[in-house]
Amino acid sequence: MAEEAILGFLQNNDEIAHSGYFAAEHNLDHEEVKNVIKSLQAFRYIEAKVLKREFFDLTDEGKKYAAEGSPEFHFFSAVPEEGTISMDDLQRMLDPFVFDVGSKQAPKKKWVAMGQQVSRTVQHVEDKVKEMLLQIQQGLELDQETLKSLKYRKLIILTEKWSGYSEVKKGPNYAPKRRSLATDLTRENLQNWQELDFKEYNVNAKGQPVDSGHLHPLLKVHSNVKTELLDVFTSSSVRKQFKDIFCQMGFEEMPTNNFVESSFWNFDALFQPQQHPARDSHDTFFLKAPWTTRELPEDYVARVKQVHESGGYGSRGYNCEWKREEANKNLLRTHTTAVSSRMLYALAKGPFTPKKYFSIDRVFRNEAVDKTHLAEFHQIEGVVCDRGLTLGDLIGVLQEFFSRLGMSNLRFKPAYNPYTEPSMEIFSYHAGLEKWVEIGNSGMFRPEMLQPMGLPEDVRVIAWGLSLERPTMILYKCDNIRELFGHKVDLKKVKENPICRIGIESA
Ligand code: PHE
Repeated sequence: MAEEAILGFLQNNDEIAHSGYFAAEHNLDHEEVKNVIKSLQAFRYIEAKVLKREFFDLTDEGKKYAAEGSPEFHFFSAVPEEGTISMDDLQRMLDPFVFDVGSKQAPKKKWVAMGQQVSRTVQHVEDKVKEMLLQIQQGLELDQETLKSLKYRKLIILTEKWSGYSEVKKGPNYAPKRRSLATDLTRENLQNWQELDFKEYNVNAKGQPVDSGHLHPLLKVHSNVKTELLDVFTSSSVRKQFKDIFCQMGFEEMPTNNFVESSFWNFDALFQPQQHPARDSHDTFFLKAPWTTRELPEDYVARVKQVHESGGYGSRGYNCEWKREEANKNLLRTHTTAVSSRMLYALAKGPFTPKKYFSIDRVFRNEAVDKTHLAEFHQIEGVVCDRGLTLGDLIGVLQEFFSRLGMSNLRFKPAYNPYTEPSMEIFSYHAGLEKWVEIGNSGMFRPEMLQPMGLPEDVRVIAWGLSLERPTMILYKCDNIRELFGHKVDLKKVKENPICRIGIESA
């Protein structure tokens, strides 16, 4: 409708001066006309200029001035060309309204000199106000300054405000009817190409946004690795960041690719007594099938049994029967220290060399799930073994490690682990939360663990562990761990979460 009307009209006319009036005259909706204009313009059937204009009506006073002339003009006309006239005479001669308004406007325009006697200061004046009002009556456009002064004198009033009407002319591709363009390179279109007009290829058109994968928040967190600033921008894996810190400190990664572990490596090798509550099915997921491990290093198992039951290496042991069946039970590893025990055992087999190991991987605990606990989460673990290490070395390594994460203010609290003595919980002051938060656990592995493996007597092993989720929760100001990991994670959040930087946030 609108398209036919516009193209048809332009066939016999040079232009459509005002799309709004055009729409009104043709009984069309102006919005629709504007849309059609845009589309016809895109194909250059027409050329269109978008304009803005206000329309005014004359007020009663304005109409009077337009018909009879402005009061100031009458006032001026009443003053003689030569000589003077008294105000009293003028008042007597003129209509009170004309006298009133004219006596203000005429001197303002510097047409007359006022006093007791009034005289002309110019020979001739033009009644511009009247002219302008007449122009407005004819629908002509006036400058803003003039409109402002007429509005101020309440001679005109705004009737309609056209925000964006168009002035339309024929374009280079003008035709009285739109040719439909072929937009696709189909087999048919290619066969009939000579009869068709193809739509021009728009190389500037934006393609469909590609829906890509998104990093999980745990993977997205940045640590502030100061020596590798570039890396902050190129890599976005929290594991990679922790890994970088470990690697810069000379640590090797441990192979953690076994979620299923035997109780032996998870507990017994770590001198964890078989009656320990953590070994209960309330705390640990045991496997139904295969429910026992296939093989263990028998001579080492014998030494572990011995140290549990009756001690040795200066220890009294637990003085309790140690059952092989318990050690054989398969479970989902409850900590990555299970991997550390395998690694230390392997290390003890060869001639001793100092080592620094780390791992970052999944662990499982049969815990009631709540806001801060999940049944599976991730642990970061560091282990250093060398001759003659002390608690001072452990504290030093921890200071170094955590300061690289931007946490330099550490405190330690004595703790208990079956496999470390002494043991320390690690706290860091969190400026954002304004309190000390526990960030990890640490200790020196006991001789009851290291000696049966066959490590030299003077070799000491210091180690620490922390969860990956905890610092991430603090960073994301997320108080529900289930929003971070597991099936309740909101995919939209994953998509939109900003990247956090450990160092910057907590510094
Ligand atoms: N395995 C401990 C835990 O799960 C962490 C730890 C690792 C403690 C190494 C001491 C030494 O919390």
